[in-house]
Amino acid sequence: MPKNIILDCDPGYDDAIAMLLAHGSPEIELLAVTTVAGNQTLDKVTRNALSVATLARMREEIVAAGAHRGLVEPQHVADMIHGESGLDGVRLPEPAVALSARHAVDVIIDLVMASEPGQITLVPTGPLTNIALAARKEPRIVDRVGQVVLMGGAARGGNWSAASEFNIGADPEAAHIVFGEHWPVAMIGLDVTHRALATPDVIDMIDRVDSPVSRFAVDVLSYFQSAYSTYWGADSPSIHDACAVAYVIDPTLVETVDVPLHVELRGELTRGMTVADLRSRPDGGPTTRVGVSLDPERLWKHVIAAIETLSEVAR
Ligand code: BDR
Ligand code: CA
Repeated sequence: MPKNIILDCDPGYDDAIAMLLAHGSPEIELLAVTTVAGNQTLDKVTRNALSVATLARMREEIVAAGAHRGLVEPQHVADMIHGESGLDGVRLPEPAVALSARHAVDVIIDLVMASEPGQITLVPTGPLTNIALAARKEPRIVDRVGQVVLMGGAARGGNWSAASEFNIGADPEAAHIVFGEHWPVAMIGLDVTHRALATPDVIDMIDRVDSPVSRFAVDVLSYFQSAYSTYWGADSPSIHDACAVAYVIDPTLVETVDVPLHVELRGELTRGMTVADLRSRPDGGPTTRVGVSLDPERLWKHVIAAIETLSEVAR
């Protein structure tokens, strides 16, 4: 049985790859793609999501737009990586898939309330604003969601600041709500995603698929690579968001530990930090499943297989 997911995202180079992986994998049924302001403004990330949905032949109205800023934080964008458009450089098809007329938060709530308990996994790969709003607007979803598998945070370090990862730093209050609810949360943070490198070898393998979808993915990863090289001085970019989807496909790809985890809201230098208590001191209190390592080869096998599947459909 495929796993039903709602992908809540802010495309974004790595979000775009996460969309392809989710839609192209037989292990996953992609129920909705909800968008949230993050890598770029809500309008821009929503347009990008519609373009990717068009390219990958997703259904009409699968994309619904959500929150345009954080709960307390003003809007931040990650234009130093994803550029002015959110997918700078990439040739995108004109969106031909209609946007849902409904708000993302209502789409999330209605899908979860209409499903059997435990049947839907939420996969946020942007700031957690929509998920927090959904939990507050309809608290009954907390018992009905199977789990939340989010890309965000880090057990050690940050990228938005020394202590904070972008998706958490862009809306720490929303993250505080999501981590604080009693649904199971798996955090696929930087400790995992920094191992998911789109190396030249990987890009070559995708290039060999030779289809509109693979050419799009090569474009995405190549521009992502050049942004990483300019901004971080890094050889290869990390496809953060695809790791959360890959974990849903096969949890054995990621090594995890169950530990207490809290989001820092007040620290002068540490606001937005995910403070994971890695000391082994089981006290029976609530824990978060925290990803600490990844098998990158198996991750890329899934990504390439999804691109091949989507390429066959589109041929
Ligand atoms: C996260 O920040 C965004 O820029 C990426 O899309 C990813 O979701 C990585 O820190
Ligand atoms: Ca993202």
